[in-house]
Amino acid sequence: MRGMDLTGTSALVTGGASGLGAGTARTLTSLGVRCTIFDRNEDGAKALAREIGADYLGGDITDPEDCQRAVDQAAEGGRLRITVNCAGTGWAERVIDRDNSPHDLGAFKRIQELNVVGTFNVMTRAASAMVLTEPLADGERGVIVNTASVAAFDGQVGQLAYSASKGAVVAMTLPAARDLAPVGIRVVTIAPGLFDTPLLEGMLRQEQREALGQSVLFPKKLGHTAQYGELVAHIAQNSYLNGEVIRLDGGIRMPPK
Ligand SMILES: NC(=O)c1ccc[n+]([C@@H]2O[C@H](COP(=O)([O-])OP(=O)(O)OC[C@H]3O[C@@H](n4cnc5c(N)ncnc54)[C@H](O)[C@@H]3O)[C@@H](O)[C@H]2O)c1
Repeated sequence: MRGMDLTGTSALVTGGASGLGAGTARTLTSLGVRCTIFDRNEDGAKALAREIGADYLGGDITDPEDCQRAVDQAAEGGRLRITVNCAGTGWAERVIDRDNSPHDLGAFKRIQELNVVGTFNVMTRAASAMVLTEPLADGERGVIVNTASVAAFDGQVGQLAYSASKGAVVAMTLPAARDLAPVGIRVVTIAPGLFDTPLLEGMLRQEQREALGQSVLFPKKLGHTAQYGELVAHIAQNSYLNGEVIRLDGGIRMPPK
């Protein structure tokens, strides 16, 4: 691979206690990366960290001080080269409800605060710390990987708030990559399709999740979190990927409902 050798580097993985973040922490750790799992579910973060041999920290990505603590912990030793933003969540509510009442403003704001401001908090603080990491021979310091969703492009009925938040994550990719190019930090966003994670488990029963898998173009199944982690690892290693949003979705294009 013409790019970063992951062995001995450090990574910060937000939302690493569950789902896509956990898949990322597992894959990166197996490749010799010292991961710091940062999640508001401290018990979950601790349990996974123990299992795979990672560090962890409980905290909230919407709190800038928690984010700073997480970044400081991940940057200890001066080898923070990978930051992966997986903490986030979904929300279903229509522009107007069945009784014509307008979308709840508080819910809309909460989703932007978590998915957009949380990503901003971690990305900005991580970049400040990654600048202090020694550049590699080609000038690269590392990479920030953010998580959007195919809902940024194919927003379904009820995804007003969620699509707005993921559209913002998509739109931050290029300006962030441009801002950080002079210091050798790449920014890449993954837009996942349908992945079998506790987030989806919380919304749909097993039969519903299996039926949903059938709607994927090929292969006809939900994505596995390891496939997400493997793409993060590839992005980290392939130094020519930058300023781009990659759909990881088995070719699915979401219908209106
Ligand atoms: N699962 C999917 O199909 C899918 C598809 C597209 C996009 N995504 C996005 O991927 C991301 C991860 O989703 P997932 O399916 O792995 O969800 P998940 O619920 O399994 O995991 C999310 C993790 O983030 C943590 N978290 C949530 N809010 C936090 C906060 N404020 N501070 C710190 N940690 C927090 C949770 O405790 C949890 O451990 C989300 O942004 C989601 O929108 C998921």
